Amino acid sequence: MPKKIAAGNWKMNGLVSDLTEVLEIDGAIDGLDCTTIICLPATLIYAADGDPRKRVEIGGQHCHPSPSGAHTGDVSAEMLAEAGAAYVITGHSERRADHRETDADIRAQTEAAWRAGLTAILCIGETLEQREAGRTLDVLGAQLNGSLPEGATPENAIVAYEPVWAIGTGKVASPDQVAEVHDALRAQVGPEMSLLYGGSVRANNAAELFALANVDGALVGGASLKAADFVPIVEALARS
Ligand code: 13P
Repeated sequence: MPKKIAAGNWKMNGLVSDLTEVLEIDGAIDGLDCTTIICLPATLIYAADGDPRKRVEIGGQHCHPSPSGAHTGDVSAEMLAEAGAAYVITGHSERRADHRETDADIRAQTEAAWRAGLTAILCIGETLEQREAGRTLDVLGAQLNGSLPEGATPENAIVAYEPVWAIGTGKVASPDQVAEVHDALRAQVGPEMSLLYGGSVRANNAAELFALANVDGALVGGASLKAADFVPIVEALARS
């Protein structure tokens, strides 16, 4: 069975004072049967690693393909690992858009994550225009083929389906839309790799998504910033 995973993505949000939310999540999920990850801004990872957490795992949100070098402003996978991360997001649509990252770039970043011993949370997703043109499965299949390197295993990779039009918009994909995509992804990645859905996941829509056969968890943006919003999502996953 794939692992159940509730992952939060804080994006460019959070100061050291906000790490109390991570500790609150950690305390509240004790005994729940799923993996819980919070992907923090790089500046917070070292501080979070110093906190006495028992359950919540820490991730980064991006890594450069190289281990070090003349790349001003970038962070390597080795740096994230040393700071205390065990996971890193690769291929988020915001990075594809803001930094023009291509599938080849994302493949190299995912390989870098593995080189540093991190598990990659690889994101793929179609735009509204691509969905309306009936190209969703083709686009996602091509993104996955282009960005998931050879050697992917259920231990070193998690795939997150995040329709671009559902991110931060309050427009969650319908269970039918999610099921269609996740069934196709399952056929592509095999029976054991965890498949997460992301895009406006909230406490009030999580259970319906987690009930779907090939949805093994969620990648949550806005609703992961506060323990009061995120913990009910983790609880819904543990119950599913
Ligand atoms: P929201 O949950 O805020 O829509 O963000 C989803 C996302 O992009 C997680 O990576």
